[in-house]
Amino acid sequence: MTETEIGAASPARGSARKERQLVSLTSKPSPATQTSRPEGRTACVRTFGCQMNVHDSDRMRRMVLDAGYAEVQRYEDADVVILNTCYVRENAVDRVRGHLGELNRLKREGRVKKVALAGCIGAAEESSELKEQYGLDLVIGTHNTYELASFVGLPTMEETYTPELPGTVGEHSAFVTIMTGCNYQCSYCIVPSVRGRMVCRPLDNVVAEVERLVASGTEYITLLGQTVDAWRHEGLRFYDLLKRVSEVAPRVWFTTSHPSNMEDRTLRLIGESETIVRRLHLPVQSGSDRLLKVMHRGYKSERYRRKVEVFRESVPDGTLSTDLIIGHPGETEADHEATLRLVEECGFDSAYIFKYSPRRGTEGAEMHERGEAVPEDVVQRRFLQVLRAVEQNAFRQNQAKVGSEEEIFIRHGVSDSGKAIGETWSGHSVHVGPEVLSPKTGLPPEPGEYVRAKILSAGPHVLYA
Ligand code: 5AD
Ligand code: SF4
Repeated sequence: MTETEIGAASPARGSARKERQLVSLTSKPSPATQTSRPEGRTACVRTFGCQMNVHDSDRMRRMVLDAGYAEVQRYEDADVVILNTCYVRENAVDRVRGHLGELNRLKREGRVKKVALAGCIGAAEESSELKEQYGLDLVIGTHNTYELASFVGLPTMEETYTPELPGTVGEHSAFVTIMTGCNYQCSYCIVPSVRGRMVCRPLDNVVAEVERLVASGTEYITLLGQTVDAWRHEGLRFYDLLKRVSEVAPRVWFTTSHPSNMEDRTLRLIGESETIVRRLHLPVQSGSDRLLKVMHRGYKSERYRRKVEVFRESVPDGTLSTDLIIGHPGETEADHEATLRLVEECGFDSAYIFKYSPRRGTEGAEMHERGEAVPEDVVQRRFLQVLRAVEQNAFRQNQAKVGSEEEIFIRHGVSDSGKAIGETWSGHSVHVGPEVLSPKTGLPPEPGEYVRAKILSAGPHVLYA
């Protein structure tokens, strides 16, 4: 789930692109025009990483606003800076170190007063070293966000481990966390040690939040969790929860799923429902059974292919995306070829492709240290081969949409480039040109509105209307 320049992901559908998406979800208008320092206490919340982090940042932002701070975008304008961080790959940490270095300088110059490090790096062992090195004022993990309350001067909050704080009310799109943590132990992954074991939020609690959000005008609900389809509570499974939410929300999506938890009936529900976006993100990581075993993924490639078959059958116009790791320690040429074959057969519409990054304390890192690392030039070649295969598929599939008329949900209003960004019901991202106007107002469409438009052209990553 996503990261600020994290990993050597595919340049377009990779994590850099993901970050751009995420940042635009959280950014506030016009930092460039802001020249003088605002009056009163100010705070800057900067997010690195996945949608879970974006959501956590919303909660942190609400705490600082409640405490009377004005939000600013630039570090130099902020009394308090909160970095909500990602730990999933090593270069994410390098990137955060760069920011911490700059903040340390601003603090010495007396511009920034306090710096807090939050999120997944905050939960990792390395955080005490960072605290020391950069003179941080607060380090918090993902389970003790409430400690931020007293840091910013709010009365101490009691927060349960399961996030039951509401999502963003009154926005056209909102994230709703339905579970946190993860019970898997994938060889390469740091998440279980920073986010802990799975905790699921009760169904009624989730539905009540969704109802509240919808009543306040939210059009689009994204259900979030590390393994969202592993959600279960009092005999109910993710299928039951998705069905209930799809009955009360006008538009729903969910991420991230795990192939071992994905039930066929859930895939069929995506095809049957009028409100679920027909896009499935199902990380496969590798096409090699041998490597999937080393990774402890808990499924073979055949099972993954079967899931994809059910999805394609039940949701013929749906889009499928995945995550792939290139160069896990011990990855052979035969493993790589198996991945290329799987990519061809599954015809992904997009993929987040990551070069393996060793994370301290994981099994993968031990293998890396034992001399099983794949040489960098080999990783680079394999990475480009996989990227090319994914892009060719995606381009072909996107071309097939040209000429069709689509109902497009506007996610971001018209930018300086004159285009709005929207999403079709099949989950395609669409750049909407200035000729397309809102049917309600006759003006350029606003976020949260629907427009109907013809797809004029397509690239490997987006459609153009
Ligand atoms: N190295 C590279 N990629 C990783 N991911 C998780 N951990 C690592 C790692 N150590 C990728 C996986 C996961 C996505 C969120 O990040 O593909 O699905
Ligand atoms: Fe990490 Fe695996 Fe859990 Fe996903 S399922 S969060 S990759 S341990």
